[in-house]
Amino acid sequence: MIAIGCDHAGCEMKNAIIEALSEKGYEFKDMGCNGEPCDYPVIAEAVCNEITSGSCEKGILICGTGIGMSIAANKIKGIRAALCSDSFSTKFTRLHNDTNVMCMGARTLGVGLAAELAEIFLSTGFEGGRHQRRIDLITELENK
Ligand code: RB5
Repeated sequence: MIAIGCDHAGCEMKNAIIEALSEKGYEFKDMGCNGEPCDYPVIAEAVCNEITSGSCEKGILICGTGIGMSIAANKIKGIRAALCSDSFSTKFTRLHNDTNVMCMGARTLGVGLAAELAEIFLSTGFEGGRHQRRIDLITELENK
């Protein structure tokens, strides 16, 4: 199960991703918003809570630029969020950073590219090995 959320800037993109990836077998838990003006940190927290509680495996967050969502998500313990706008970074943030949340900008990306990046993010595994040590160091930073 994938938790997904957006602020008022990102609803069209969120719906397009749900539609495109549901057809490929992914299941989504939609944490809002539904177009009403809202504050992105509230949605970021709702999506990230689904992950830290174990209810969802990964999350997707969309706001105007994706930046506010990524700042907010990365404040939450256990979350590693990446702002994604190209396929190379999207693939490698899964392979090397084991990110559990991707953030995208609805005002900077087209919905077709966003759906493609979301599929890359969700279908790429963590490489482990030497990268696990670096993730452990990030976790140590989080616990300081
Ligand atoms: C909302 O207008 C906008 O500030 C928000 O969607 C986002 O881009 C913040 O980072």
